[in-house]
This record gives sequence, C-alpha cells and structure tokens, in this order.
Amino acid sequence: MGVVRNLRQVSADDAGVDIAFRADVHAGLAQRQKAIPARWFYDATGSALFEDITALPEYYPTRSETDLLTRHAADIAAATGPDRAVVELGSGSSTKTPLLLDAIAPAAYVPVDISGDFLRDSALALAARFPAVPIYPVEADFTQRVELPREICPLPKLGFFPGSTIGNMVARTAIDLLRGWRATLGDGSLMLIGIDRIKDIGILETAYDDPAGVTAAFNLNLLERINRELGGDIAVENFSHRAVWDDVHARIEMHLVAACDMDFTIDGRAYHMAKGETIHSENSHKYGARDANLLLRAGGWTPVATWDDASPAFALILAEATEFRSAP
Ligand code: AVI
Repeated sequence: MGVVRNLRQVSADDAGVDIAFRADVHAGLAQRQKAIPARWFYDATGSALFEDITALPEYYPTRSETDLLTRHAADIAAATGPDRAVVELGSGSSTKTPLLLDAIAPAAYVPVDISGDFLRDSALALAARFPAVPIYPVEADFTQRVELPREICPLPKLGFFPGSTIGNMVARTAIDLLRGWRATLGDGSLMLIGIDRIKDIGILETAYDDPAGVTAAFNLNLLERINRELGGDIAVENFSHRAVWDDVHARIEMHLVAACDMDFTIDGRAYHMAKGETIHSENSHKYGARDANLLLRAGGWTPVATWDDASPAFALILAEATEFRSAP
C-alpha cells in the first residue's frame, strides 16, 4: 500500500497568514520599482488559475515538456536507473509526475510544495495510482533550506524540477537554489530540470498575455490575495496586466499597471501609486542551450543529457551532482 506521511507546515502568524508573505509585500511596495516575489501567486485561487494557464493553447511550456517526458521516457529511465527517491521541487498538482514515476521505477517520491492543500490532494491521488511507492510530502518553500524525510536518506536521489520554474528566478538566485539543492540531495544525485528556450517574441508574449485573460486573472489575483489575507483595500479593478519581453535580461516580465493615481492601505499602512506606475510581479527567464548549461554548472550540476526537440522549443536537461574542483 502506498503511504502519505510527514506533511509539514510553513510558519504562519496568529491570523494564519504566512509571515514571509506579509514581510515581502511591505518590503516590495516600499521599493522605487515596486515588486512582489512571484511565489506569492500560489494561494488556492492562484494555483487553480495556474493550472488553467497550463491548458491554454498559447501557453506552450506544459505541452512541450509533457511531450518530451512522454517521448523520451525510456531514454530518461536508462540515464537515471531505477530505485531512486524522486524529490520534486514545487510539485503543485504533480501533473507530470506520473510520466516520470511510470518510466523510472522509483523507490520513493517526495513532493515539496508551499501550497499545502494542493500537496495533500495530489499526494493522495498519486498514492492511489502508485501503491508500491512510498510518498513523503513536504509542505515547504523549496527556495529555502528543506529538510528531507529521514526515510529517504539512504537512497540515491533524483531531483525533479519541471515546468521551467527555474526561469522565475534571477540568475544569482537560480544558482544559489541549484547549489542549495546540490547540498541537500548530496553526492551521487541527479537532477532532471525543465528549462524554457529563447524563441520568437510574439510566441513568448502571447504565452504570457493570452486572449482569454487567464494570465491577467492570475496576475491580478496577487492583489486580491493581499486584500484577502493582509486586510488591504486595493481597488483591483484599477489595475491591468502587462507582459513584455526584456531582451537584455532574456525574460518575460509581468507587471500590474496602475490605471490612475491611487492610494490604498495594507495592514493599515498607506501606499500611493501614480498613474502608469507598476508593481513588477514576475520574471520568466528563457535560456539558450549554452546559457542553460552554464547556469547548471555554476550551480554545481553537470549536464549529462538534453532532450529538446519539442516545438515550441523547450529543454529537459539531466544533470549530475558534480564534485567541486578549482582546477582541471
Ligand atoms: C511557474 N512558472 C514556470 C510559470 C512561467 O511560465 O514562468 C508561471 C507563469 N506565469 C505566467 N504564466 C505562467
């Protein structure tokens, strides 16, 4: 029988609000360019909207990556070998996980996600589908240091970081994360990571500003979440969604744009925004082949195989934990 154990909690204040969310919102809105980290998109509403985004015809990354996982399952299995503990970073609804678990015959599965409700539901669904695989969900922010369940310590690990979530971090943060997970997963570990490629700007901008307005709703939900959880009185209807390619940073930037001058309060603290001013809410970096390999090597992982023949272009890269050497 599959088991689901060890659900851990993130730290919340007396009102049940994540302490880090409150701190990030106030710190971000005090900056000259207002900005709130993208990880706060994912409350229950935001997570459900993100699932809707992944089904949009314009949002190609999920389709491309699923296609790669399906078509190259046997090659991936041959490269990883069986009996590893699969540790999925930011598992969400774990939709791609069955493709991997089916292919590689793992010894255990550890989904790590900040959204407890999603984690619980998807872990139970996977336990029903893979009754022989023990499942140890960890409710945690995978960008911070995560303690792995004791039960998987002796097993070789396969980090699974699909969805090009690495692209939501600036390079320095991405490298810190990769180095941190290199230390957590340990010697002998592998990492299978999804990375979105640079491509036609029209394809990129439409993927992040779909005609049905689902991505706009996802972006605006951040303001609604602030109102709901932090007692804000932001007039959300006075904001619009913007997604634009920044070629210098090779990324799509998402912003919340103020349609008029406005004042609002959050937790009783007063804020002012001028017409046209924005809150920068997300970066989605895209990587060429050599850029991606350099990023991984800088994070302590050596690419050993790449599957990237999907269209629109997207890459699945398998990398191994590399012993640090300062010279050849
Ligand atoms: C989760 N992450 C990889 C998505 C992306 O493509 O950057 C988030 C997203 N934002 C808007 N659409 C999708």
